[in-house]
Amino acid sequence: MKTLNVELTGGGYRVHIGAGVRGALSSLATAPHRGFPPADKPRITVITDKTVADLHLRAVLDILQSADDSSRPLVLTVDPGEASKTLEVAGSLYQALAQGGIERSDLIVTLGGGVVGDLGGFVAATWHRGIRFIQVPTTLEAAIDAAVGGKTALNLPAGKNLVGVFHQPAGVVIDTDFLNTLPQRDFVAGLAESVKHAAIDGETFLDWHEQQAQSILAREPAVLEELIAWNCRIKAAVVAQDEREHGLRAVLNYGHTVGHAIEHLLGYELRHGECVGLGMIVAGELSCRQAGLARASAGRINSLVARLGLPTRLPRRVDGAGIAATCRLDKKTRAGEVRFVLLEGIGRARPGCSVRETDLVDALAVIAPGR
Ligand SMILES: NC(=O)c1ccc[n+]([C@@H]2O[C@H](COP(=O)([O-])OP(=O)(O)OC[C@H]3O[C@@H](n4cnc5c(N)ncnc54)[C@H](O)[C@@H]3O)[C@@H](O)[C@H]2O)c1
Ligand SMILES: [Zn+2]
Repeated sequence: MKTLNVELTGGGYRVHIGAGVRGALSSLATAPHRGFPPADKPRITVITDKTVADLHLRAVLDILQSADDSSRPLVLTVDPGEASKTLEVAGSLYQALAQGGIERSDLIVTLGGGVVGDLGGFVAATWHRGIRFIQVPTTLEAAIDAAVGGKTALNLPAGKNLVGVFHQPAGVVIDTDFLNTLPQRDFVAGLAESVKHAAIDGETFLDWHEQQAQSILAREPAVLEELIAWNCRIKAAVVAQDEREHGLRAVLNYGHTVGHAIEHLLGYELRHGECVGLGMIVAGELSCRQAGLARASAGRINSLVARLGLPTRLPRRVDGAGIAATCRLDKKTRAGEVRFVLLEGIGRARPGCSVRETDLVDALAVIAPGR
């Protein structure tokens, strides 16, 4: 079991990682948290989705019951998937909180993947102008990326994550036992964020991935715990320096400019992480061409993406100009150019790099299908 701190100016929080660490929930649930009214026995609301509820809710309720004021935490279950990250679903959750008489000194626990974390975190951030919440991520994507950092969000028909607020959790509990039920494709998709963290952090973590690839894919418990802890440390360090994304935090978007565009243009046929893997291959190519990244370094990242079982080519043809235009809209940059995070070397990411759309279309050839 590993515990690490996310250090923030307004008061930090702990991240507990390991098999069986769900037990940490009972003390966290009643622990005082700076900026929030004290509550020896809060009412606890668990927000989860149907799939996760069937698999893991019982185990979490068994622990939370002793910490809840009425011994019966309120459970709010949403449909699984991105379609639940909406104002409508948030509205129905507010109604249930009102009916349950949930007050400012109470607690929300989000149990699920990034969708539940973003949605439940947003509801926690806005209910009574913000109440305490604990993240219990159950996907690898959420464990190594979404759960730490305090970004919450909802989607609008006009685009993803357009409504959101920063609201840091009071704690994060990552019980690796919960990840055992994840389908392999979802597990592998989450690994893309780990490769991203290695690319922006440095050689040591990249070397580790290369050495441990086999054990990572086999989800060996000790390796999985190490993987998650390392990722959380990297994310926590970036967030500690730039909590509200004024600058540095943008490096966490490496591979995401093209990744998001592909995700959108393929109608969410690929997983987010699969698109980020493709996005990193394109960003690597651009980094070699205009930021001085060594070809061998880009090659290492690309080989790792492939070894972990992530796609390295688009599943079907997607118009390059369309991808470039979507990137431009996403980043609201001037016509004819797009802003990218590029690598000068492994561990040396530079945000805000301007890339000409024609150069981007050219670089997209590296992920063309059937090459
Ligand atoms: N806030 C942030 O900083 C941040 C960072 C990265 C991603 N995100 C957001 O996270 C979301 C993606 O997260 P995700 O990939 O976890 O998706 P998700 O929450 O939709 O989960 C994927 C699927 O896995 C199922 N699932 C969850 N845990 C399971 C388990 N243990 N066993 C079996 N099935 C399980 C879910 O029911 C769902 O169907 C996106 O909305 C993205 O915007 C946010
Ligand atoms: Zn991502």
